[in-house]
Amino acid sequence: MSDQSVQLIDGKNDRSTSLPIVTGTLGDPALDIGRLNKETGYFTYDPGFVSTASTRSAITYIDGDKGVLLYRGYPIEQLAKHSNFLETSYLLINGELPSRTEFNQFEHEVTHHTMMHESQKNFLNGFRYDAHPMAMLCASVASLSAFYHDNLDMDDPEQRRLAAIRLIAKVPTIAAAAYRSSVGWPVRYPRNNLEYVTRFLHMMFEVPSEPLELNPTVAKALDLLFILHADHEQNASTSTVRLVGSTGANPYACIAAGIAALWGPAHGGANEAVLSMLTDIGDAKNVASAVAKAKDKDSGFRLMGFGHRVYKNFDPRATIIREMTHKVLADLNIKDPLLDVAMALEEVALKDSYFVERKLYPNVDFYSGIIYKALRIPTEMFTVMFAIARTAGWVAHWLEQQVTPDAKIGRPRQVYTGSVQRDYIEVGKR
Ligand code: SDX
Repeated sequence: MSDQSVQLIDGKNDRSTSLPIVTGTLGDPALDIGRLNKETGYFTYDPGFVSTASTRSAITYIDGDKGVLLYRGYPIEQLAKHSNFLETSYLLINGELPSRTEFNQFEHEVTHHTMMHESQKNFLNGFRYDAHPMAMLCASVASLSAFYHDNLDMDDPEQRRLAAIRLIAKVPTIAAAAYRSSVGWPVRYPRNNLEYVTRFLHMMFEVPSEPLELNPTVAKALDLLFILHADHEQNASTSTVRLVGSTGANPYACIAAGIAALWGPAHGGANEAVLSMLTDIGDAKNVASAVAKAKDKDSGFRLMGFGHRVYKNFDPRATIIREMTHKVLADLNIKDPLLDVAMALEEVALKDSYFVERKLYPNVDFYSGIIYKALRIPTEMFTVMFAIARTAGWVAHWLEQQVTPDAKIGRPRQVYTGSVQRDYIEVGKR
C-alpha cells in the first residue's frame, strides 16, 4: 500500500473522500474503495469486473497490451521451453522453482496420491453413457470431500497442503476414468512407474487387449499444453474458486466450482467450441462468410478462440501453441484440413478492421483443439484437459487465499432496479 491517494469530490452532494492507492510490484495501481460506500454513500459499478482488482496475488502476472504472461515472475516462453507441468505446478504453489530434491519429493507425493476410492468408480458408472465428462469431473471432484474427512480442517497448513497434493494427483485419474466409462472401457489404474502426463495418457488410452505404444511427441505436447493452461491470474474460474474459498468451503468444493465455471464456452469451453466452429466452416473458402457473421451483432455468432478480456495483443500462449501445432502434426504425420481453415480464419480476421479496432486476437483456445485432436483426445474431453492443467493454478490461488491476512468473504453489492416498497394485495383484489 502506498501513502498516496486520489481525492474523490462529489460536488452535487458536497461530499469528498480520499481513496488510498494500492500498488504492486508490476502492473496498474488500484484505488482502495473499501470505505467508499461508508464515507460517500456510493457503490462502484463494474459488471464483469473489467476495472476491478479483487485481491492481491503473487502468483501470475499478465500484461495484456504487451502480451506478457509470468508465472511467479518466470516468462511463460521460458517455462514452456525448459520446464515440465509438474515442476510448473510446484512453482505456482510454492513460489520458487524446486531443487532436484524438492521436485523428487513433490513428484513422489503426487504419484502416491493418484488412486481414487474404488466407490468413485461406481459413482462414475452411475452417469448415462453419453454424460459430458465435465459433468462427471465436476461432480466427482466435489465428492472427494466425502472421502477425505481427515483433511478438512483448513486452519491446519499440513491438511491444506495434502488437499492440494490430492487434487493435483487425482483430477487426471478421475478425468481418465470418466472418459473410459463413457466409452465402456474398464478403468485403468494409475501406474506409479510413469511420469505425470504419460501416466494420464496410459489411464486414458491403454486397452486390456494390448500394451499402449506411446509416441513421446504426444506426451511432450500434452505436457506443454498443461504448462500453458496451468494458471492465468483472476480469470472467471479462478475467481470462482476464490469466492467459494472465501466462505470457508472445503478445497474439493472450491475446485469443483472452478471446474463448473471453466465449462462455459466464453471461458474454458471455448476450445471445444473452436473445433465445432472450424468443422462447421469446413473449408477456407467459407472463412469470409464466417468472419462476416461474427461481425453481425444480430447473428449471435462469435469467432470462438478469438478475443480476450485482458490480452489486447497476441495471447503469448496462442503463439506458442500455433508453432507447436505445426510441429506436432508434422511429427505425427497428420494433415488436418481444420488447421488450414484455422490459419485462413486467423489471416482474414487479423486484417479485418472490426477485429483490429477491437484488438481481437487468437487466444489460448484457438489452436489447442487442433492439437488435442491430433493427440486423439476426444472433443468432449478438450475442456477436461484444460481443467486438469488449471487445477494447479486453482490450488495455488486457493492456498494463497487461505493465508491472506485481509481475506474477507466475497459479497458484492448491487444497483437495485426493482419495485419500491409496496403492500401485499389479497388474491381476490389482483
Ligand atoms: C479463456 O480470463 C482469462 O484469462 C481466460 C483464459 C484463461 O486462461 O483463464 O484466458 C481462458 O477463457 C480464453 C477466452 C476463450 N473464449 C472465447 O474464445 C470465446 C470467444 N471470445 C469472447 O466471447 C470474448 O472475446 C471474451 C469472453 C473472451 C472476452 O469478452 P470481453 O472482454 O467481455 O469482451 P466483450 O464481450 O465486451 O467484447 C468487446 C467487443 C464487443 O463488440 P462491441 O460491443 O464493442 O461492438 O468485441 C466483440 C464484442 O462483440 N467481440 C467479438 C469476439 N469477442 C469480442 N466479436 C466476435 N468474435 C469474438 N470472439
